[in-house]
Amino acid sequence: MSSAKIVRRSVPADTSTDELLTNLRDYLLPEPPAISLPPRMFTSPGIYEREREQIFGRSWILVGHVSQLAAPGDYLALDIAGEPVAVTRDEDGRLHGLSPVCRHRLMPLVRPGAGNVKDFTCSYHLWRYRLDGSLLAATHMRGNPDFESAECRLPAFAVRQWHGLIFVNLDAEAPPFDDDLAVVDAEMTNYQLDDMVQISGWTEQWHCNWKVAVENGYENYHALGFHPDTVKPLMTGGIDMQVHMDSPLVTRLLSPAGTPFATTVLPLTEAERRVMYSFRLFPCAAVATFGESVAWISLIPTAIDRTEVRGGTLMPAGALHGADVAAVRAQVEATTSVINGEDRRGLEEVQRTLGSRFLERGHLSPKEPGVLAFYRKLALALTESVGR
Ligand code: FES
Ligand SMILES: [Fe+2]
Repeated sequence: MSSAKIVRRSVPADTSTDELLTNLRDYLLPEPPAISLPPRMFTSPGIYEREREQIFGRSWILVGHVSQLAAPGDYLALDIAGEPVAVTRDEDGRLHGLSPVCRHRLMPLVRPGAGNVKDFTCSYHLWRYRLDGSLLAATHMRGNPDFESAECRLPAFAVRQWHGLIFVNLDAEAPPFDDDLAVVDAEMTNYQLDDMVQISGWTEQWHCNWKVAVENGYENYHALGFHPDTVKPLMTGGIDMQVHMDSPLVTRLLSPAGTPFATTVLPLTEAERRVMYSFRLFPCAAVATFGESVAWISLIPTAIDRTEVRGGTLMPAGALHGADVAAVRAQVEATTSVINGEDRRGLEEVQRTLGSRFLERGHLSPKEPGVLAFYRKLALALTESVGR
């Protein structure tokens, strides 16, 4: 069945949110049209609001590696689709996800970034909060009989660790994702993620809608244009990938490696040495293996046209024994910075076109089945509970 001719109509700039959601449902068909998203999906405030509510308000977002929260007092602070978020490690070693906004008069308790603190002290009137979100002290409040300091605390979010990767969910009651990742968990056993160390971690701000960045990560096709001298030479088995949609959240993307990866410490099988194994956790987390090194990346919206790109490179601790770690780190950071720069420049150019009145949906290549997998998951997340 081919419905491409029907759906490849141009979508005018005043397209309503409901019309866009109706378009999106086509990706749920058994044979979805091989066609790109309506351009308005990237700029519609109604769609962004819906994404904030139905996706980022209830999804597991990859925010960092456990080594970034190793010591009591360590914290990460970021913005997830307009929602300030802090992840802390308290004095007892427990992780917490918190809304770091003062309960007095709305002052943010911390700026986006990372650090180590004894507590969060509000800079406005000096209320203090413990790292588990409970109130430690509030100055000059005894005279207000309605104020119960024991009941005053920062709202909590859910936090989970998966083999050293830390995820946060704004819905404190969110179900865990372990079952979704069961196949990945089994297939990644030989990578021994728990014994890996993060050799480098980074955060960048890209001027594009989060889906512009995410859909790019579901295909190797763009290595031809964006990365001719960096990623393309690594694609020794070509740019095709096998796509497996395991659950509404998880997609595995397997790219052949024509030249097998060398191993020094991991017990990778011949088949594992011949594949770049990766998976995506909807909406915006990616983990990819390159033989013995593993990269994670998370593409988190901070506004409708801004994406925070967080990532890191992991290596087996054993592979670094006796190595010049500073030199390895410098090499990894140099490579990452070049490749990220190539993606960033290209995707910011795509973003720059989104105001044009002459945009149309485009036909996809057979090299892009992963993009359709992402659209399907997007459609599932955004159209549930919407009547047709
Ligand atoms: S707003 Fe934080 S103490 Fe007043
Ligand atoms: Fe890329």
